[in-house]
Amino acid sequence: MFRVYIAGISSYLPENCVHNNDLSETLDTSNDWIVSHTGISYRHLAAEHESPSSMGIAAVKDVLQKTGIAAEELGMILLSTTTPDYAPIPSTACVVQDAIGAKNAVGLDITAACAGFVYGIELARAYMQIHQRPILVVATEMLSRVTDWNDRKTCVLFGDGAAAAILLPSPDGERGVVESLLKSDSSGKDVLKIEGGCRTSTSHTDNIPLTIFMDGKSVFTFAIRILPAVITQLMKNNGLTIDDIDWIVPHQANYRIIHSAANRLGVPESKFFINVQNFANTASASIPIALVDMEHRGLLKPGHKIITVGFGAGLCYGGNLIIW
Ligand code: UT7
Repeated sequence: MFRVYIAGISSYLPENCVHNNDLSETLDTSNDWIVSHTGISYRHLAAEHESPSSMGIAAVKDVLQKTGIAAEELGMILLSTTTPDYAPIPSTACVVQDAIGAKNAVGLDITAACAGFVYGIELARAYMQIHQRPILVVATEMLSRVTDWNDRKTCVLFGDGAAAAILLPSPDGERGVVESLLKSDSSGKDVLKIEGGCRTSTSHTDNIPLTIFMDGKSVFTFAIRILPAVITQLMKNNGLTIDDIDWIVPHQANYRIIHSAANRLGVPESKFFINVQNFANTASASIPIALVDMEHRGLLKPGHKIITVGFGAGLCYGGNLIIW
């Protein structure tokens, strides 16, 4: 059977690690509120000299070295970001392509918010059925640049970071992506936005800064509904039960969302990998950053069955069932 597998994965996190208590020095918030409402303690924030592409490139260089794939071998670079280097052209994928010298690849950005890595895996799987060449899937997010640092309802939630994965044809037809579900419920397109695009400008003299807006409660309600639904559907489609699944790797938005999904599914919380406490919500980079974290902790073994679930603006969502 033709399958596509993740041959290697790396992440990059900016050096500056900020604790909740650092934020409460200048903002009307507290460590207690942030921990009790989100589970977040720390987030990494990019330095002035960094950009979404520079973070992505750091992760890409590492994964190329790890897998022994040369940049010239890449057939495609799929890059997920909600914070592109430029708004919106050239694509950040092309910026990364140029920097690493992947001159035989096609570069394409994915706009699917926090579901972007899940989408990227499935798009890579589909493209590779025709062009059987290595594909790089990158997720890089610098939400600190589009956050209103006076808005306590959003600014405490996000962190910066990037990750990159090399996808190859499965060596044994067993390991790899078994199935993906990709969905979008655009009736919720207004509950999570980065304002400041052409629709919000009224003339060429406008210079509206990009700023994130979120109706947190609506996103929360959506997330606790779709997280169990995606997991259940992927298991059902493949004749699996929760006992067959080794790990669920959800988008790391809020500990309470994961806790609620575990309760609704009647699954022990220990099935879910959770690291939101250390990195906050890094949008589409959160799932691949979690996978790297799991590898570092020795939690992922070849043959493990894992389900990823991403959800965010759009409202885009989906999941991948992967045999690691
Ligand atoms: O990756 C994209 C997906 N995004 C998400 O998954 C986010 C989903 N939403 C959430 O995680 C939650 O809705 C939040 C964490 C954003 C908010 O939690 P909540 O329990 O819905 O809080 P709330 O917005 O209802 O606010 C409760 C109170 C309010 O005060 P009043 O009006 O009751 O007096 C807020 O002003 O908490 C206040 N508050 C804060 N207090 C201290 C809001 N943010 C803060 C804060 N520090 N940072």
